[in-house]
Amino acid sequence: MNIIHVLFRSSIGKKVTMAVSGFILFGFVIGHLSGNLQIFAHPDKINAYAHFLESLGPALWVIRLFLLVTAGIHIWLAAQLTLENRQARQKGYQKQVTLRATLASRYMRVSGVIVLVFIIYHLLHFTVRVTGSEADYPDTILADGTPVRDVHSMMILGFQNPVIAGFYLLSVGLLSWHLAHGLVSMFQSLGLRTRTWTRFLERVTVVICVLYFLGNAAIVVAAMTGNVRIQNPKVAGFTCRTDCEVCGAMTADAVAETLEDSKENQS
Ligand code: HEM
Repeated sequence: MNIIHVLFRSSIGKKVTMAVSGFILFGFVIGHLSGNLQIFAHPDKINAYAHFLESLGPALWVIRLFLLVTAGIHIWLAAQLTLENRQARQKGYQKQVTLRATLASRYMRVSGVIVLVFIIYHLLHFTVRVTGSEADYPDTILADGTPVRDVHSMMILGFQNPVIAGFYLLSVGLLSWHLAHGLVSMFQSLGLRTRTWTRFLERVTVVICVLYFLGNAAIVVAAMTGNVRIQNPKVAGFTCRTDCEVCGAMTADAVAETLEDSKENQS
């Protein structure tokens, strides 16, 4: 029997493939959150990190493609399993399906669709950078003089809008819920959910997903309420009188001049 058939055609194969693809995506969101939490450190940290990712060039595209294919498989199999469940119910198996399980899978679908809409918006917002004006996507220079995109200010500017901040909070809330249910189903599909382990795994899962939500919410709320501030003089609209030895930033004029030079060198 060929492996594609086992993983994508048989019912158990589909569940295992969904579990594995979901776990890969879970790994990505945890890694992504760890990177984003650098917003609480000096702006150079997250800006240098984003610059490093961008400098990966073709390797970054391989990772992006891998994530896209993984997400595509996860969504496609979710749709297939939903259709199969519907057909099975029409054939008269409804008594075997508990109301609780039906509601949970319905919420999984609804939360999955909202998270998908969020990801599309999020990519346009922070990666393609087309949802705002040029001023929403500033540049800066690192303490060592490297010109980079100012992801730190970009995030704060984004979350200063309460509607956008609210949409992010709702989406990461739904994603956290989706992850909690998804991880428990994953343990079941992979046969790891035994009587002894069930309670423990469920509790650990809930703790991880609540922490995941709180980590993301902390970023959005801190940016929205001004607890993390824009430190790029050009964006914040202040002029430092001298080069700043504490944060490493130059005066606003010097920052503007360096960026101008680097643009001229590139063209
Ligand atoms: C409060 C929550 C979040 C914040 C603050 C945030 C922030 C960011 C930022 C700043 C970028 C652009 C990085 C850069 O261009 O250097 C980005 C990219 C991205 N984010 Fe998020 N993100 C959040 C939640 C999520 C979630 C929940 C997902 C997925 C479910 C996600 C998926 C992505 C993806 C796929 C990219 C594109 C990465 C790439 O290809 O370069 N993000 N995010």
